[in-house]
Amino acid sequence: MSDLGNDGWSPAALELLGDAANRCARYLGGLSERAVAPSPAAVEALRELEQPLPAKGCAPARTLALLDGLVSPATSAMAGPRFFGFVIGGSVPAALAASWLTSSWDQNAAFFAPTPGVARLEQVALRWLAELFDLPAECAGGFVTGATVSNFTALAAARHAVLTRAGWDVEADGLFGAPPITVIAGEEAHPSLLKSLGMLGLGRSRIVRVPGDGQGRMRADALPAIRGPTILCLQAGNVNTGACDPFAALIEAARRGGAWVHVDGAFGLWAKVSARHRALVEAVEQADSWATDAHKWLNVPYDSGVALVRDAAALSAAMAVTADYLPAAGAERNPCDFTPELSRRARGVEVWAALHSLGREGIAELIERNCAQARQFAARLGAAGYAVLNEVVLNQVLVSFGEAERTRAVVAALQREGTCWCGTTVWQGRTAMRISVSNWSTRAEDIDRSVEAMLRIARG
Ligand SMILES: Cc1ncc(COP(=O)(O)O)c(C=O)c1O
Repeated sequence: MSDLGNDGWSPAALELLGDAANRCARYLGGLSERAVAPSPAAVEALRELEQPLPAKGCAPARTLALLDGLVSPATSAMAGPRFFGFVIGGSVPAALAASWLTSSWDQNAAFFAPTPGVARLEQVALRWLAELFDLPAECAGGFVTGATVSNFTALAAARHAVLTRAGWDVEADGLFGAPPITVIAGEEAHPSLLKSLGMLGLGRSRIVRVPGDGQGRMRADALPAIRGPTILCLQAGNVNTGACDPFAALIEAARRGGAWVHVDGAFGLWAKVSARHRALVEAVEQADSWATDAHKWLNVPYDSGVALVRDAAALSAAMAVTADYLPAAGAERNPCDFTPELSRRARGVEVWAALHSLGREGIAELIERNCAQARQFAARLGAAGYAVLNEVVLNQVLVSFGEAERTRAVVAALQREGTCWCGTTVWQGRTAMRISVSNWSTRAEDIDRSVEAMLRIARG
């Protein structure tokens, strides 16, 4: 046992939480001034973690001090204002604070009856999300770990629906002997969407791929004729360019062929909230299902994704679980009937808190601010003579500093220097630095400091 013995939540044990809050405040307060990448020395110091499993425990305060002392310096400042890699949001204060409270509640958010507080909050958050994205009010949804699993969840509903129409019960009988499903996706579909299809037994390689245009949008004129059980996978927000598929034309064609339309909107679906960017995702609400992330542009802590499905019965048919010892769904919705997990944390609480604290206007402002910041990056790097490879329609910018090797060297030096953090990609054969602006705390001075560092290094 630890030095504390088992005194339950004694005053000494509770003191630990104050200690943790102070450490968190110190960490978060220092985010904007520290180097974004951890130093090699901090990474080297992690060797100290390589200890044998302790035979005896120790005071929790020592455990926490070790964590903070060794691991905090070895983190990237991903939650901070100048992390522009991948598509990474921070945590708005209300969502982070709600996350602490949610962890303290430690609710298993599977069933309504034993956890009415969090189940009700999740229901409200789902309704708010549907309103925010202009989706049909009858949508069902589930809170999952991220867009990979929200794609998986929504596509399981799609698989159920198209095979039911073909007279096949996929949940009961699996895919052996089932009528084949045609799955269509863009050449630029995110690899995690292909992984989701593979996990559903629909295969990563048998997908019909539709070519894209110069920005990675699916070409509506290249969509094949749709016949028989078909799932069409579209995308809101290309991970490199931010471009969105032309939903109106594609969804109309899919409807004529009776296909289920799914949209991977990991970050791009949030364009719907902004009057300035809404046109990019025009008609997206006409699809059958949508996957998005809350840990990206809504800025809630990891991990948090949402699956939304127009046909609630299809989603629950794919996901519901029953057993004599488990509470049956009554008048109230059991969250576990809509997610792959049975037991899970109540991650919808943080989504609710972010939506509640930002409001529709605050979210629109966040999206528009980040998009304006992306345009500033593009304008200033372009004015300095570097090629911007994409139309900056959302929050993604691709910049070339010349030959592939030169671009990779500039990005590596930028990561080492520490003012900000960007990654690299290859866009249509050209190596580029990827800038993704998705953090609520990024301010104008962060763009200035980052551009200056980029130019200093590129010119050096
Ligand atoms: C378009 C798209 N889909 C899916 C994903 C996967 O999201 P997650 O890492 O949350 O599973 C991403 C991640 O960036 C993405 O951009």
